[in-house]
Amino acid sequence: MGFSRLILVLMLISVFLPPSTPDPSDESCLTKLFESMEDPNHNLMNWTKPSFENPCSGFLSNLAGATCNNGRIYKLSLPNLALRGSISPFISNCTNLQALDISNNSLTGPIPNELQYLVNLAVLNLSSNRLSDAIPPSLTMCAYLNVIDLHDNTLSGTIPPQLGSLARLSVFDVSNNKLSGPIPASLGNRTGNLPRFNASSFLGNKDLYGYPLGPMKSKGLSVVAIVGIGLGSGLLSLVLSFTVVCVWLRVSEKKMAAEQEGKISQLMPEY
Ligand SMILES: *[C@@H]1O[C@H](CO)[C@@H](O)[C@H](O)[C@H]1NC(C)=O
Ligand SMILES: *[C@@H]1O[C@H](CO)[C@@H](O)[C@H](O)[C@H]1NC(C)=O
Ligand SMILES: *[C@@H]1O[C@H](CO)[C@@H](O)[C@H](O)[C@H]1NC(C)=O
Ligand SMILES: *[C@@H]1O[C@H](CO)[C@@H](O)[C@H](O)[C@H]1NC(C)=O
Ligand SMILES: *[C@@H]1O[C@H](CO)[C@@H](O)[C@H](O)[C@H]1NC(C)=O
Ligand SMILES: *[C@@H]1O[C@H](CO)[C@@H](O)[C@H](O)[C@H]1NC(C)=O
Repeated sequence: MGFSRLILVLMLISVFLPPSTPDPSDESCLTKLFESMEDPNHNLMNWTKPSFENPCSGFLSNLAGATCNNGRIYKLSLPNLALRGSISPFISNCTNLQALDISNNSLTGPIPNELQYLVNLAVLNLSSNRLSDAIPPSLTMCAYLNVIDLHDNTLSGTIPPQLGSLARLSVFDVSNNKLSGPIPASLGNRTGNLPRFNASSFLGNKDLYGYPLGPMKSKGLSVVAIVGIGLGSGLLSLVLSFTVVCVWLRVSEKKMAAEQEGKISQLMPEY
């Protein structure tokens, strides 16, 4: 009997325990993230100040797209919502975040360098937005990253070779951006048991080259071709105009000679 009484006491204690205290970092993260984004279709109606102060009740969140664990935000999943604006660097204050999916929106601006402070981040999906600037090499600080999906943006610069050192990386997609330079062997030609990435991860970047894509498209050739065409057409028009002038000179010479002859014959007295 003592045992069931103990259980009853424990249940009563758990009921009267205060809810897990909200985290000031999560509050700052959610507040600033909401401020940095525009929500024209009003999908984030319950992203309000009171719910930023207290975003979690157990595993549930009061915020659309958020999931909690131990009273902390641990997933943010906001795909396909036509969100505009940018990704606040304060997102790094959601320090327990494991998955960030803001794919298929209309976000602009850079990928914040501050993502490096999300040391538990395993999934990063920012695909199909209008994000620009370089891929931060500091992402390599997020040692648990499994997924880096950045396809269909306007990212530029080179692919940081450091990202190849992410041992758990199994999905890496930077296709359809404005990236340039060589594909780092640490990502394009991974050795050992590391998951490999094929050409589909890199396609659609005009100035990206190297395995598994083709070699560098030699720009020198096209410059030579352009100069060649220029010189060739210049020379051709020179030859043509020279010929025209020559012919014209000949004709007018003959004409003059003929006229001269006529004049002379006119002047000649008739015998
Ligand atoms: C939030 O992040 C900013 C910038 O990374 C930092 O300066 C600030 O101390 C953080 N605030 C909290 C409450 O963690
Ligand atoms: C928040 O809004 C979403 C839809 O926008 C809804 O599915 C969800 O139930 C709402 N959550 C709460 C706690 O009201
Ligand atoms: C992207 O979002 C739009 C709605 O904003 C939807 O129609 C489309 O199917 C989504 N694409 C993907 C790949 O989920
Ligand atoms: C990233 O998001 C896009 C669009 O929502 C989706 O199609 C894609 O499968 C996601 N990537 C991964 C690796 O799950
Ligand atoms: C890929 O790596 C292997 C082993 O390091 C090397 O022998 C090979 O030449 C590399 N292939 C390319 C296309 O760089
Ligand atoms: C390339 O890799 C992707 C996913 O990693 C896979 O779906 C696709 O079939 C691969 N393509 C080729 C040509 O091997």
